Amino acid sequence: MSAASVRAPRGTHDVLPEQAPARAALESRARAILEPAGYERIETPAFEATELFARGVGESTDIVQKEMYTFLDGGGRSLSLRPEGTAPVCRAYLEHGMHKRPQPVRLWYLSSFFRYERAQAGRQRQFWQVGAEALGSDDPALDAELIALLARLLEEMGVAEVRLRLSSLGDPESRGAYRERLQRYLRSHEGELAPDVTARIDANPLRAFDSQHAGTMRVMEGAPRLLEELSAEDAEHFATVRQLLDAAEIPYEVDPTLVRGLDYYTRTVFEFTSEALGAQSGVGGGGRYDGLVQLLGGPPTPAIGFAAGVERILLASGATEHENAPCAPDLFLAIAGEQRRASAFALLQQARRAGLAAQMELAGRSLKRQLGHADRLGARYVAIVDHPQTVLKDMRDGSQTELEANMLVHAVLRGLRDLT
Ligand code: HAM
Repeated sequence: MSAASVRAPRGTHDVLPEQAPARAALESRARAILEPAGYERIETPAFEATELFARGVGESTDIVQKEMYTFLDGGGRSLSLRPEGTAPVCRAYLEHGMHKRPQPVRLWYLSSFFRYERAQAGRQRQFWQVGAEALGSDDPALDAELIALLARLLEEMGVAEVRLRLSSLGDPESRGAYRERLQRYLRSHEGELAPDVTARIDANPLRAFDSQHAGTMRVMEGAPRLLEELSAEDAEHFATVRQLLDAAEIPYEVDPTLVRGLDYYTRTVFEFTSEALGAQSGVGGGGRYDGLVQLLGGPPTPAIGFAAGVERILLASGATEHENAPCAPDLFLAIAGEQRRASAFALLQQARRAGLAAQMELAGRSLKRQLGHADRLGARYVAIVDHPQTVLKDMRDGSQTELEANMLVHAVLRGLRDLT
Protein backbone atom coordinates (compact mmCIF):
# COMPACT_ATOMS: atom_id res chain seq x y z
CA MET A 1 0.00 0.00 0.00
CA SER A 2 1.44 3.40 -0.91
CA ALA A 3 1.45 6.28 1.58
CA ALA A 4 -1.18 9.05 1.18
CA SER A 5 0.35 11.96 -0.71
CA VAL A 6 1.07 15.22 1.12
CA ARG A 7 -0.74 18.25 -0.29
CA ALA A 8 -0.04 21.99 -0.01
CA PRO A 9 -1.79 23.59 3.00
CA ARG A 10 -5.23 25.13 2.40
CA GLY A 11 -5.01 28.72 1.20
CA THR A 12 -1.56 28.32 -0.34
CA HIS A 13 -0.75 27.68 -3.97
CA ASP A 14 2.13 26.70 -6.16
CA VAL A 15 3.31 29.06 -8.87
CA LEU A 16 3.78 26.64 -11.77
CA PRO A 17 6.11 27.24 -14.72
CA GLU A 18 3.17 28.24 -16.94
CA GLN A 19 2.12 30.89 -14.37
CA ALA A 20 5.61 32.32 -13.86
CA PRO A 21 5.71 34.57 -16.98
CA ALA A 22 2.66 36.61 -15.86
CA ARG A 23 4.24 37.19 -12.43
CA ALA A 24 7.57 38.09 -13.96
CA ALA A 25 5.77 40.59 -16.23
CA LEU A 26 4.10 42.18 -13.18
CA GLU A 27 7.40 42.40 -11.34
CA SER A 28 9.20 44.06 -14.25
CA ARG A 29 6.25 46.43 -14.78
CA ALA A 30 6.34 47.43 -11.11
CA ARG A 31 10.10 47.99 -11.28
CA ALA A 32 9.80 50.03 -14.49
CA ILE A 33 7.19 52.28 -12.86
CA LEU A 34 8.61 52.61 -9.34
CA GLU A 35 12.38 52.80 -9.75
CA PRO A 36 12.47 55.80 -12.12
CA ALA A 37 10.18 57.53 -9.59
CA GLY A 38 12.89 57.11 -6.94
CA TYR A 39 11.73 53.94 -5.15
CA GLU A 40 14.42 51.41 -4.18
CA ARG A 41 13.82 47.73 -3.59
CA ILE A 42 13.77 46.43 -0.02
CA GLU A 43 13.30 42.92 1.33
CA THR A 44 12.54 42.35 5.00
CA PRO A 45 12.47 38.95 6.79
CA ALA A 46 9.48 36.63 6.40
CA PHE A 47 9.05 36.63 10.19
CA GLU A 48 9.41 39.36 12.80
CA ALA A 49 8.95 39.80 16.54
CA THR A 50 5.20 39.46 17.20
CA GLU A 51 5.35 42.74 19.11
CA LEU A 52 6.11 44.65 15.89
CA PHE A 53 2.68 43.82 14.50
CA ALA A 54 0.86 43.99 17.85
CA ARG A 55 2.16 47.56 18.28
CA GLY A 56 2.26 48.59 14.63
CA VAL A 57 -0.85 47.07 13.06
CA GLY A 58 -2.88 47.29 16.29
CA GLU A 59 -3.96 44.86 19.05
CA SER A 60 -7.64 45.29 18.23
CA THR A 61 -7.40 44.55 14.49
CA ASP A 62 -8.60 41.25 13.00
CA ILE A 63 -5.11 40.77 11.60
CA VAL A 64 -3.47 40.71 15.03
CA GLN A 65 -6.33 39.08 16.92
CA LYS A 66 -7.18 36.24 14.55
CA GLU A 67 -5.02 36.08 11.48
CA MET A 68 -1.37 35.92 12.46
CA TYR A 69 0.76 32.81 12.24
CA THR A 70 2.47 33.20 15.61
CA PHE A 71 4.90 30.71 17.13
CA LEU A 72 7.63 30.43 19.73
CA ASP A 73 11.08 29.75 18.34
CA GLY A 74 13.63 27.42 19.96
CA GLY A 75 14.72 30.28 22.23
CA GLY A 76 11.18 30.95 23.46
CA ARG A 77 10.72 34.22 21.51
CA SER A 78 7.29 34.99 20.07
CA LEU A 79 7.62 35.45 16.32
CA SER A 80 5.00 35.96 13.61
CA LEU A 81 5.02 35.41 9.87
CA ARG A 82 4.58 38.91 8.43
CA PRO A 83 0.90 39.65 7.69
CA GLU A 84 1.80 42.92 5.93
CA GLY A 85 4.82 44.99 4.91
CA THR A 86 4.42 48.49 6.33
CA ALA A 87 5.41 47.84 9.96
CA PRO A 88 8.50 45.81 8.86
CA VAL A 89 9.58 48.61 6.49
CA CYS A 90 9.27 51.16 9.32
CA ARG A 91 11.28 48.86 11.58
CA ALA A 92 14.02 48.54 8.93
CA TYR A 93 13.97 52.33 8.32
CA LEU A 94 14.69 52.91 12.00
CA GLU A 95 17.05 50.01 12.55
CA HIS A 96 19.29 51.09 9.66
CA GLY A 97 19.20 54.80 10.46
CA MET A 98 17.43 55.67 7.21
CA HIS A 99 15.91 58.69 8.98
CA LYS A 100 19.37 60.25 8.58
CA ARG A 101 19.26 59.96 4.78
CA PRO A 102 17.74 62.69 2.60
CA GLN A 103 13.98 62.49 3.05
CA PRO A 104 11.66 61.16 1.84
CA VAL A 105 13.13 57.67 1.70
CA ARG A 106 11.22 55.73 -0.94
CA LEU A 107 11.13 51.93 -0.87
CA TRP A 108 9.26 49.19 -2.72
CA TYR A 109 8.82 45.46 -2.28
CA LEU A 110 7.29 42.41 -3.85
CA SER A 111 7.07 39.77 -1.16
CA SER A 112 4.85 37.08 0.30
CA PHE A 113 2.63 37.68 3.32
CA PHE A 114 0.64 35.38 5.59
CA ARG A 115 -2.82 35.70 7.11
CA TYR A 116 -4.98 32.96 8.55
CA GLU A 117 -8.13 33.98 6.67
CA ARG A 118 -11.03 31.99 5.27
CA ALA A 119 -9.51 30.82 1.98
CA GLN A 120 -11.46 31.42 -1.22
CA ALA A 121 -10.80 32.72 -4.75
CA GLY A 122 -8.57 35.81 -4.38
CA ARG A 123 -8.13 35.28 -0.62
CA GLN A 124 -5.18 33.15 0.39
CA ARG A 125 -3.29 32.35 3.56
CA GLN A 126 -0.02 32.98 1.76
CA PHE A 127 -0.30 35.74 -0.82
CA TRP A 128 2.00 38.24 -2.50
CA GLN A 129 1.89 42.00 -2.42
CA VAL A 130 3.64 44.63 -4.46
CA GLY A 131 3.99 47.65 -2.22
CA ALA A 132 5.67 51.03 -1.94
CA GLU A 133 6.36 53.18 1.12
CA ALA A 134 7.66 56.77 1.27
CA LEU A 135 8.89 57.91 4.68
CA GLY A 136 9.90 61.32 5.97
CA SER A 137 7.57 63.81 4.28
CA ASP A 138 4.03 65.01 4.91
CA ASP A 139 3.77 66.76 1.55
CA PRO A 140 0.32 66.05 0.04
CA ALA A 141 2.08 65.63 -3.32
CA LEU A 142 3.51 62.40 -1.92
CA ASP A 143 -0.01 61.12 -1.20
CA ALA A 144 -1.01 61.96 -4.77
CA GLU A 145 2.23 60.44 -6.13
CA LEU A 146 1.61 57.06 -4.48
CA ILE A 147 -1.99 56.97 -5.64
CA ALA A 148 -0.88 57.89 -9.18
CA LEU A 149 1.80 55.18 -9.20
CA LEU A 150 -0.63 52.47 -8.12
CA ALA A 151 -3.26 53.71 -10.58
CA ARG A 152 -0.68 53.45 -13.36
CA LEU A 153 0.46 49.97 -12.34
CA LEU A 154 -3.13 48.71 -12.33
CA GLU A 155 -3.83 50.39 -15.67
CA GLU A 156 -0.69 49.05 -17.34
CA MET A 157 -1.44 45.56 -16.00
CA GLY A 158 -4.87 45.78 -17.63
CA VAL A 159 -6.85 45.47 -14.38
CA ALA A 160 -10.45 45.85 -15.48
CA GLU A 161 -13.23 48.07 -14.02
CA VAL A 162 -11.12 49.87 -11.43
CA ARG A 163 -12.63 52.27 -8.88
CA LEU A 164 -10.62 54.44 -6.53
CA ARG A 165 -12.16 55.46 -3.21
CA LEU A 166 -10.53 58.13 -1.12
CA SER A 167 -10.99 59.54 2.36
CA SER A 168 -9.15 61.15 5.25
CA LEU A 169 -9.05 59.87 8.82
CA GLY A 170 -7.56 63.09 10.20
CA ASP A 171 -5.06 63.23 13.05
CA PRO A 172 -5.30 61.21 16.27
CA GLU A 173 -6.90 64.12 18.18
CA SER A 174 -9.79 64.74 15.82
CA ARG A 175 -10.17 60.99 15.42
CA GLY A 176 -10.28 60.58 19.20
CA ALA A 177 -13.09 63.11 19.55
CA TYR A 178 -14.91 61.57 16.60
CA ARG A 179 -14.51 58.04 18.01
CA GLU A 180 -16.28 59.03 21.19
CA ARG A 181 -19.15 60.58 19.25
CA LEU A 182 -19.42 57.44 17.07
CA GLN A 183 -19.33 55.19 20.16
CA ARG A 184 -22.21 57.17 21.70
CA TYR A 185 -24.16 56.86 18.45
CA LEU A 186 -23.50 53.10 18.17
CA ARG A 187 -24.50 52.49 21.80
CA SER A 188 -27.76 54.29 21.18
CA HIS A 189 -28.47 51.74 18.39
CA GLU A 190 -27.03 48.64 20.05
CA GLY A 191 -30.14 46.51 19.51
CA GLU A 192 -29.92 46.90 15.73
CA LEU A 193 -26.21 46.04 15.33
CA ALA A 194 -24.49 42.74 14.53
CA PRO A 195 -23.06 41.11 17.71
CA ASP A 196 -19.43 41.41 16.48
CA VAL A 197 -19.94 45.13 15.84
CA THR A 198 -21.42 45.62 19.32
CA ALA A 199 -18.49 43.69 20.80
CA ARG A 200 -16.06 46.12 19.18
CA ILE A 201 -17.74 49.42 20.04
CA ASP A 202 -15.05 50.11 22.65
CA ALA A 203 -11.99 48.79 20.82
CA ASN A 204 -12.65 49.67 17.21
CA PRO A 205 -15.95 51.46 16.49
CA LEU A 206 -14.83 52.58 12.99
CA ARG A 207 -14.93 49.00 11.75
CA ALA A 208 -18.74 49.21 11.98
CA PHE A 209 -18.57 50.94 8.56
CA ASP A 210 -17.13 47.70 7.11
CA SER A 211 -19.95 45.45 8.30
CA GLN A 212 -22.08 43.61 5.73
CA HIS A 213 -24.84 43.02 8.34
CA ALA A 214 -28.10 44.57 7.05
CA GLY A 215 -29.15 46.16 10.38
CA THR A 216 -25.68 47.58 10.96
CA MET A 217 -25.58 48.98 7.43
CA ARG A 218 -28.89 50.76 8.03
CA VAL A 219 -27.59 52.26 11.29
CA MET A 220 -24.35 53.35 9.64
CA GLU A 221 -26.19 55.34 6.98
CA GLY A 222 -27.10 57.85 9.67
CA ALA A 223 -23.79 57.70 11.55
CA PRO A 224 -21.64 60.81 12.00
CA ARG A 225 -18.85 61.12 9.42
CA LEU A 226 -15.23 61.75 10.38
CA LEU A 227 -14.57 63.54 7.11
CA GLU A 228 -16.91 66.32 8.22
CA GLU A 229 -15.01 66.83 11.48
CA LEU A 230 -11.40 67.13 10.34
CA SER A 231 -9.14 69.82 11.80
CA ALA A 232 -8.52 72.80 9.49
CA GLU A 233 -5.01 71.53 8.76
CA ASP A 234 -6.13 68.00 7.88
CA ALA A 235 -9.00 69.32 5.77
CA GLU A 236 -6.53 71.47 3.84
CA HIS A 237 -4.15 68.51 3.36
CA PHE A 238 -7.04 66.44 1.99
CA ALA A 239 -8.20 69.26 -0.28
CA THR A 240 -4.66 69.56 -1.73
CA VAL A 241 -4.46 65.80 -2.36
CA ARG A 242 -7.76 66.07 -4.24
CA GLN A 243 -6.59 69.07 -6.26
CA LEU A 244 -3.44 67.21 -7.30
CA LEU A 245 -5.41 64.12 -8.35
CA ASP A 246 -7.78 66.35 -10.32
CA ALA A 247 -4.83 68.06 -12.02
CA ALA A 248 -3.42 64.66 -12.99
CA GLU A 249 -6.88 63.55 -14.17
CA ILE A 250 -6.99 60.55 -11.87
CA PRO A 251 -10.65 59.70 -11.25
CA TYR A 252 -11.70 58.97 -7.65
CA GLU A 253 -14.72 59.04 -5.39
CA VAL A 254 -14.63 60.51 -1.91
CA ASP A 255 -16.05 57.82 0.39
CA PRO A 256 -16.40 58.98 4.02
CA THR A 257 -17.21 55.40 5.08
CA LEU A 258 -13.84 54.06 3.92
CA VAL A 259 -12.05 52.42 6.83
CA ARG A 260 -9.06 50.15 6.52
CA GLY A 261 -8.30 47.05 8.54
CA LEU A 262 -5.09 48.42 10.07
CA ASP A 263 -4.85 50.85 12.99
CA TYR A 264 -1.85 52.91 11.89
CA TYR A 265 -3.58 55.15 9.36
CA THR A 266 -3.84 58.93 9.71
CA ARG A 267 -5.08 61.49 7.18
CA THR A 268 -5.31 60.14 3.60
CA VAL A 269 -6.60 56.60 3.04
CA PHE A 270 -7.47 55.02 -0.30
CA GLU A 271 -8.58 51.77 -1.82
CA PHE A 272 -8.70 50.49 -5.39
CA THR A 273 -11.38 47.92 -6.18
CA SER A 274 -12.04 45.99 -9.36
CA GLU A 275 -15.50 44.73 -10.26
CA ALA A 276 -13.76 41.90 -12.13
CA LEU A 277 -12.84 40.32 -8.77
CA GLY A 278 -16.29 39.59 -7.33
CA ALA A 279 -16.49 39.29 -3.53
CA GLN A 280 -12.81 40.03 -2.81
CA SER A 281 -12.87 43.24 -4.81
CA GLY A 282 -10.04 45.09 -3.02
CA VAL A 283 -7.09 45.02 -5.38
CA GLY A 284 -4.86 47.48 -3.54
CA GLY A 285 -4.93 50.14 -0.90
CA GLY A 286 -2.95 52.26 1.48
CA GLY A 287 -2.69 55.57 3.20
CA ARG A 288 -0.72 57.82 5.51
CA TYR A 289 0.70 56.52 8.75
CA ASP A 290 2.27 59.63 10.24
CA GLY A 291 2.51 58.15 13.76
CA LEU A 292 3.83 54.65 13.07
CA VAL A 293 7.60 55.24 13.09
CA GLN A 294 7.26 57.09 16.39
CA LEU A 295 5.07 54.30 17.79
CA LEU A 296 7.93 51.92 17.02
CA GLY A 297 10.37 54.05 18.99
CA GLY A 298 11.63 56.44 16.31
CA PRO A 299 11.47 60.20 15.76
CA PRO A 300 8.24 61.79 14.46
CA THR A 301 8.21 60.70 10.81
CA PRO A 302 5.28 61.27 8.50
CA ALA A 303 4.92 58.53 5.88
CA ILE A 304 2.57 57.02 3.33
CA GLY A 305 2.37 53.85 1.26
CA PHE A 306 0.31 51.32 -0.64
CA ALA A 307 0.18 47.59 -1.22
CA ALA A 308 -1.65 45.64 -3.91
CA GLY A 309 -2.32 41.91 -4.08
CA VAL A 310 -0.33 40.15 -6.80
CA GLU A 311 -2.83 37.29 -7.19
CA ARG A 312 -5.70 39.78 -7.34
CA ILE A 313 -3.96 41.95 -9.97
CA LEU A 314 -3.38 38.87 -12.11
CA LEU A 315 -6.95 37.65 -11.60
CA ALA A 316 -8.46 41.05 -12.43
CA SER A 317 -6.27 41.56 -15.46
CA GLY A 318 -7.26 38.16 -16.88
CA ALA A 319 -3.56 37.22 -17.10
CA THR A 320 -3.49 33.92 -18.91
CA GLU A 321 -1.23 30.98 -18.42
CA HIS A 322 1.49 30.60 -21.00
CA GLU A 323 2.78 27.46 -22.56
CA ASN A 324 6.15 28.11 -20.98
CA ALA A 325 8.64 26.90 -23.63
CA PRO A 326 11.82 26.09 -21.71
CA CYS A 327 14.97 27.73 -22.99
CA ALA A 328 16.14 25.82 -26.11
CA PRO A 329 19.75 24.65 -25.71
CA ASP A 330 22.55 25.93 -27.92
CA LEU A 331 24.26 22.63 -27.27
CA PHE A 332 23.05 19.21 -26.17
CA LEU A 333 25.74 16.76 -25.06
CA ALA A 334 24.81 13.21 -26.01
CA ILE A 335 26.84 10.39 -24.50
CA ALA A 336 28.10 7.58 -26.73
CA GLY A 337 28.49 5.24 -23.75
CA GLU A 338 28.41 5.24 -19.96
CA GLN A 339 32.22 5.58 -19.85
CA ARG A 340 31.92 9.04 -21.53
CA ARG A 341 29.72 10.55 -18.81
CA ALA A 342 32.59 12.31 -16.98
CA SER A 343 33.97 13.86 -20.20
CA ALA A 344 30.47 15.07 -21.16
CA PHE A 345 29.98 16.54 -17.69
CA ALA A 346 33.31 18.40 -17.89
CA LEU A 347 32.36 19.76 -21.34
CA LEU A 348 28.98 20.84 -19.98
CA GLN A 349 30.70 22.99 -17.34
CA GLN A 350 33.01 24.51 -19.98
CA ALA A 351 30.09 25.29 -22.26
CA ARG A 352 28.03 26.93 -19.52
CA ARG A 353 30.98 29.01 -18.36
CA ALA A 354 31.37 30.21 -21.95
CA GLY A 355 27.76 31.45 -21.81
CA LEU A 356 26.11 28.69 -23.83
CA ALA A 357 22.69 27.31 -22.94
CA ALA A 358 23.87 23.74 -22.55
CA GLN A 359 22.34 20.48 -21.33
CA MET A 360 23.47 16.87 -21.21
CA GLU A 361 21.77 13.51 -21.25
CA LEU A 362 20.41 12.64 -17.80
CA ALA A 363 17.92 9.84 -18.34
CA GLY A 364 19.96 6.91 -19.68
CA ARG A 365 18.47 7.05 -23.21
CA SER A 366 19.96 5.16 -26.15
CA LEU A 367 22.03 7.32 -28.50
CA LYS A 368 19.20 7.34 -31.04
CA ARG A 369 16.68 8.49 -28.45
CA GLN A 370 19.12 11.10 -27.14
CA LEU A 371 19.17 12.65 -30.62
CA GLY A 372 15.37 12.58 -30.74
CA HIS A 373 15.21 14.23 -27.31
CA ALA A 374 17.69 16.97 -28.32
CA ASP A 375 15.55 17.63 -31.38
CA ARG A 376 12.39 17.99 -29.27
CA LEU A 377 14.22 20.45 -26.98
CA GLY A 378 15.05 22.52 -30.06
CA ALA A 379 18.82 22.16 -29.57
CA ARG A 380 20.88 24.02 -32.16
CA TYR A 381 23.87 21.67 -31.93
CA VAL A 382 24.29 18.16 -30.56
CA ALA A 383 27.70 16.83 -29.59
CA ILE A 384 28.08 13.06 -29.44
CA VAL A 385 30.80 12.77 -26.85
CA ASP A 386 33.10 9.89 -27.69
CA HIS A 387 36.80 9.12 -27.60
CA PRO A 388 39.17 10.15 -29.17
CA GLN A 389 36.83 12.25 -31.40
CA THR A 390 33.60 14.05 -30.64
CA VAL A 391 31.03 14.50 -33.37
CA LEU A 392 29.29 17.86 -33.58
CA LYS A 393 25.98 17.81 -35.39
CA ASP A 394 24.33 20.97 -36.68
CA MET A 395 20.63 20.28 -36.14
CA ARG A 396 19.58 22.83 -38.78
CA ASP A 397 21.22 21.28 -41.82
CA GLY A 398 22.18 17.87 -40.40
CA SER A 399 25.89 18.39 -41.23
CA GLN A 400 28.40 16.65 -38.96
CA THR A 401 31.99 17.52 -38.04
CA GLU A 402 34.49 15.47 -36.11
CA LEU A 403 36.62 17.43 -33.71
CA GLU A 404 38.78 17.20 -30.60
CA ALA A 405 36.73 17.56 -27.41
CA ASN A 406 38.68 20.64 -26.36
CA MET A 407 37.63 22.42 -29.60
CA LEU A 408 33.93 21.77 -29.06
CA VAL A 409 32.86 24.92 -27.21
CA HIS A 410 34.86 27.09 -29.57
CA ALA A 411 33.23 25.47 -32.61
CA VAL A 412 29.72 26.00 -31.23
CA LEU A 413 30.44 29.62 -30.34
CA ARG A 414 31.81 30.23 -33.83
CA GLY A 415 28.83 28.50 -35.45
CA LEU A 416 26.39 30.66 -33.46
CA ARG A 417 28.35 33.83 -34.22
CA ASP A 418 28.50 33.14 -37.97
CA LEU A 419 24.74 33.02 -38.01
CA THR A 420 24.26 36.48 -36.64
P1 HAM B 1 -4.24 45.58 2.97
O1 HAM B 1 -5.43 46.33 2.45
O2 HAM B 1 -4.43 44.72 4.17
O3 HAM B 1 -3.12 46.68 3.22
O4 HAM B 1 -3.66 44.68 1.80
C1 HAM B 1 -3.35 45.23 0.54
C2 HAM B 1 -3.79 44.31 -0.58
O5 HAM B 1 -3.25 42.98 -0.38
C3 HAM B 1 -5.29 44.07 -0.65
O6 HAM B 1 -5.92 45.12 -1.35
C4 HAM B 1 -5.38 42.76 -1.40
O7 HAM B 1 -5.25 42.97 -2.79
C5 HAM B 1 -4.14 42.03 -0.92
N1 HAM B 1 -4.50 41.04 0.11
C6 HAM B 1 -4.70 41.25 1.43
N2 HAM B 1 -5.01 40.10 2.06
C7 HAM B 1 -5.02 39.13 1.11
C8 HAM B 1 -5.28 37.72 1.11
N3 HAM B 1 -5.57 37.08 2.22
N4 HAM B 1 -5.19 37.05 -0.07
C9 HAM B 1 -4.88 37.69 -1.21
N5 HAM B 1 -4.62 39.02 -1.28
C10 HAM B 1 -4.70 39.73 -0.14
C11 HAM B 1 -1.87 46.41 3.71
O8 HAM B 1 -1.40 45.31 3.81
C12 HAM B 1 -1.08 47.67 4.02
N6 HAM B 1 0.26 47.26 4.48
C13 HAM B 1 -1.00 48.56 2.80
C14 HAM B 1 -0.19 49.80 3.05
C15 HAM B 1 1.08 50.02 2.67
N7 HAM B 1 -0.60 50.88 3.73
C16 HAM B 1 0.41 51.75 3.77
N8 HAM B 1 1.43 51.24 3.15
